[in-house]
Amino acid sequence: MNQTEYIESAVASFRALLEEQLLRVAAMEEAASLKKGEKECIKIGIVDGDGIGPIIVSAAEQVLQVLLKEELAAGKVSLEKIEGLTIENRLACGQTLPADTLEAIKGCDVFLKGPTTTPKGGTVESANVALRRALDLYANVRPVAIPEKGIDWTFFRENTEGEYVLGSRGVEIPGKLAMDFKVTTKPGTERIARAAFEFAKNNGKKNVAIVTKANIMKKTDGNFSAICHEIAKDYPDIAVEDWYIDIMTANLVNEKIANHFEVFLLPNLYGDILTDEAAQLQGGVGTAGSANTGDRYAMFEAVHGSAPRMIEEGLGEYASPESILRATVMMLSHVGLQEKADRLAAALDILRARGDVVVDGTRGGATCKAYTDALIGAL
Ligand code: IPM
Ligand code: MG
Repeated sequence: MNQTEYIESAVASFRALLEEQLLRVAAMEEAASLKKGEKECIKIGIVDGDGIGPIIVSAAEQVLQVLLKEELAAGKVSLEKIEGLTIENRLACGQTLPADTLEAIKGCDVFLKGPTTTPKGGTVESANVALRRALDLYANVRPVAIPEKGIDWTFFRENTEGEYVLGSRGVEIPGKLAMDFKVTTKPGTERIARAAFEFAKNNGKKNVAIVTKANIMKKTDGNFSAICHEIAKDYPDIAVEDWYIDIMTANLVNEKIANHFEVFLLPNLYGDILTDEAAQLQGGVGTAGSANTGDRYAMFEAVHGSAPRMIEEGLGEYASPESILRATVMMLSHVGLQEKADRLAAALDILRARGDVVVDGTRGGATCKAYTDALIGAL
């Protein structure tokens, strides 16, 4: 193609992207007006994932069996094992999300998911990103607590748009330029802002920090911030602050100010980056849980990846289940089993404070099994 043809083709695909994104906006507006009903039996899907996934997920499943013994026996809760979200199967069927696996996931109300591997290059996309998109899981909620420093943070990361929604749909004139797109929509921002402020209101939080780079990304971040401020008007008791992402990364490690923050509200990519930093401050990405929630479905997962290197080195049994168990706490709370969630959280905190069973991913540390047994003992 010559330069003019590249431009023509890029303009045509940009038009198609705009039309497609406006359809997504319309679908979000419609979904916002639907309500969901009460459930007789809460169906919890259990999805292994890759690498250390099956090991840590089976630890979480074992804990759920103990914690929910009565609910399971009474048919109030069911645990549904869902197969097929493995890199082998995804490559074999050439689908990011194998259709039957996605159907099974949609048959559940919520699901716990082990980390999945994303191959570099090729056509198989991140299963995570695809699931968030397919199930419209727009709120990525990541709590981080460092009690000895008075830190109790909850991150509300927009999870379906921003830099991610068209991440693989940029345009390129080879050897000359490349361009990606970032998308902020009104309903997409309203719903994540609403989720953050509702959380703040219901949990006695007094402060929400909106984190953008609106001085540079004037359209997308500028609108994100402005729309969040509109929603904030419904919550007059909560203080709203605007921060830029660069200084906020510094704030998190600035002991003079870090514990002032309570709730963070951010576009997708900043949320991705800042939550890894926060998790590391808490004790590592292996210690934080992550919820991906929408109006219909919700997925709960570890913040870390599938750690293929640990499996290659025969260290799988030394993988820490703490992150997936922190996600399990969030899942129990999400489905209304708050007392069970509190019990599990307390047991996890006890183990952390006791410090006698520490899984550090090496042969010198405790095994996943030893940790799980100790946790069940502490429940
Ligand atoms: C996360 C991860 C994912 C993301 C990857 C695995 C696609 O980093 O959940 O934070 O970028 O969102
Ligand atoms: Mg990340």
